[in-house]
Amino acid sequence: MGAPFYPTSAFVVEKMLALAGVNSESVVYDLGCGDGAIVVAAARNYNATKVVGIEQKQKLCSIALRKTRHLGNVTIVNANYDDVDISEANVVTLYQSSSENARLKRKLVGELREGSKVVSHDFGIPGWRPTEFRVLKEGHHNQRILVYVIGSNTPL
Ligand SMILES: C[S@@+](CC[C@H](N)C(=O)[O-])C[C@H]1O[C@@H](n2cnc3c(N)ncnc32)[C@H](O)[C@@H]1O
Repeated sequence: MGAPFYPTSAFVVEKMLALAGVNSESVVYDLGCGDGAIVVAAARNYNATKVVGIEQKQKLCSIALRKTRHLGNVTIVNANYDDVDISEANVVTLYQSSSENARLKRKLVGELREGSKVVSHDFGIPGWRPTEFRVLKEGHHNQRILVYVIGSNTPL
């Protein structure tokens, strides 16, 4: 089951997108985009060519839509991300649980091209080795960022 809504802070969002190397050639998909914190930053601050946020909760989608209406390169999809083709993404962002990340491995490996990056907030993808790993101090909390690159032999 996917994680409940808990937004990534602006500080961590910036670090996630920077570590994943998001730029004007990036197509970014946020699986479970909540109120749109990541999609807004990817489009506005990193100039990604296309940004798609997928969110199952209608209310959160409305908020994300309102925040991104003026940004031409953002699409918010009100759906279960299991049902959305993510194959055009070259960067996928996640803030889900470890067990959900484990469940998503089949979709990520099955749909993403080699070289695509997956950047996860706090929770690792079990069995995968991150290419980048950072622990950020924010107040009293440590926030983890993990980046993975899809390869020809990324395990399921
Ligand atoms: C921890 S929040 C992260 C929100 C946002 N990505 C961020 O980092 O600020 C996880 C979000 O995933 C959504 N979610 C969980 N499972 C989902 C699914 N199967 N399809 C679409 N959205 C899902 C939840 O409703 C929630 O808004």
